[in-house]
Amino acid sequence: MPTNDKKDNKDFKSTNDRLIEHSYDGIQEYDNPMPRWWLLSFAGTIIFSVIYLFNVGPVGNGKGRVADYEADMKKFAAAHPAPTSDVSGDKLLAMVKDKEEVHEGGETFKTYCASCHRMDAGGLIGPNLTDNAWIHGGQITDIYKTLVNGVLEKGMPSWSKVLKPEELEQVVAYVASVQGSNPANPKAPQGIPVSP
Ligand code: HEC
Repeated sequence: MPTNDKKDNKDFKSTNDRLIEHSYDGIQEYDNPMPRWWLLSFAGTIIFSVIYLFNVGPVGNGKGRVADYEADMKKFAAAHPAPTSDVSGDKLLAMVKDKEEVHEGGETFKTYCASCHRMDAGGLIGPNLTDNAWIHGGQITDIYKTLVNGVLEKGMPSWSKVLKPEELEQVVAYVASVQGSNPANPKAPQGIPVSP
């Protein structure tokens, strides 16, 4: 028999509670209105979703996530210029003559390149860099391009994101400087001989 005795149930009821007129296995339930704060935030999400829809692409007039991402990436690229493969060969050749630059390049080489090209550049996993045979061209600008782009499918990483533009130029100058240094037990020549 349903009762609506407020005295018995005072712990569970607000003044709006209404006992629903049914019982299952003797269990009855109250019809509790949702609290106001809940209803307001629920309505708020609905209103927000409408505003949101009008602000995003491709539904609304916003540019959309993809365009936003691309704009951000463009801004980032503008702020962090990557070395490009067009560099002045004359500048690099001048660096080869500069002991200081070549020395810096040698340090970079030991850190990043020696694991594959050997400390003395005689070749290990990567080719011998001291002979006159080149797979990707032996002009100093070719070497620079090889470093910037890498030869990913052959296991030569791209260095344009790892090294600073200056470090990249220095290490190219270093590679040019070890031409003809004839280290002991070099790796056999690979590629096409290029006259210096
Ligand atoms: C993970 C191993 C690895 C590292 C590290 C590496 N290289 Fe290489 N490098 C290679 C391989 C493998 C090749 C040969 C690519 C091919 O067969 O086309 C290569 C090729 C080259 C070439 C072109 C040689 C040619 O005959 O045309 C140059 C120049 C070169 N590397 C310079 C560098 C420099 C400078 C660094 C350090 C900044 C470096 N490499 C770091 C593996 C590496």
